[in-house]
Amino acid sequence: MLSTRNNLFRSAASLALVAVIGTALLAGVDRLTKTRIAEQEKRAILDQLGQLISPDLYNNELQQDLFSFQDDLYFPKGQTVTTYRARLDGKAVAVVLKMAAVNGYNGKINLLVGINENGTLCGVRVTSHKETPGLGDAIEVERNDWILGFYGRALDNPPPDGWAVKRDGGEFDQFTGATVTPRAVVEAVRLALEFFAKHKSFLFESPTMVQHAD
Ligand SMILES: Cc1cc2nc3c(=O)[nH]c(=O)nc-3n(C[C@H](O)[C@H](O)[C@H](O)COP(=O)(O)O)c2cc1C
Repeated sequence: MLSTRNNLFRSAASLALVAVIGTALLAGVDRLTKTRIAEQEKRAILDQLGQLISPDLYNNELQQDLFSFQDDLYFPKGQTVTTYRARLDGKAVAVVLKMAAVNGYNGKINLLVGINENGTLCGVRVTSHKETPGLGDAIEVERNDWILGFYGRALDNPPPDGWAVKRDGGEFDQFTGATVTPRAVVEAVRLALEFFAKHKSFLFESPTMVQHAD
């Protein structure tokens, strides 16, 4: 009787140990995966920041001249926007907004939106997304040059009606069988330009820190 109880106790203890080790292993793998994704995204951001603003146009450290804010009207769903400032001998040259298009087919599409001091776009890049391969992923510069079409655009170029995909009466192409993804990106870029037009000095002059726009 006693030995049966001992055996039962041993089995239960072994099972509990396996469960604890399994859980710890899973937690470790999860943390590693998250760290790796965060590192990949950081690398993508660094690479793409360099593609957006020509290095001969500024001489500050973009990575150290930044601040973050939230503004639900222009950057919905509680996202935090990080603003990198490019300056030449201290003079404002451009900002890059690290932000998201929130209405993608599969959720958020993370973007870098570069805006010159005069309000023209110096470029847009996607840093990560969950859109469908072969459909929505044509927003990646590596797959399609669609995203390059933002270069040189501004709030008045195209005029307000043109800031939509062609299917909605605008000037931007959609993709074959995929309108939702480009629609979300066009809308997010337009909102970023509107925010820039309204809050340019906030973007350039806010100290390097995390804060809220009003
Ligand atoms: C499995 C599946 C995945 C899809 N993935 C995307 C996608 O990533 N991006 C996208 O724009 N449309 C995607 N679509 C197509 C959309 O549902 C939609 O039909 C398309 O974007 C056209 O939108 P519209 O009718 O508003 O023009 C997908 C459809 C299916 C069935």
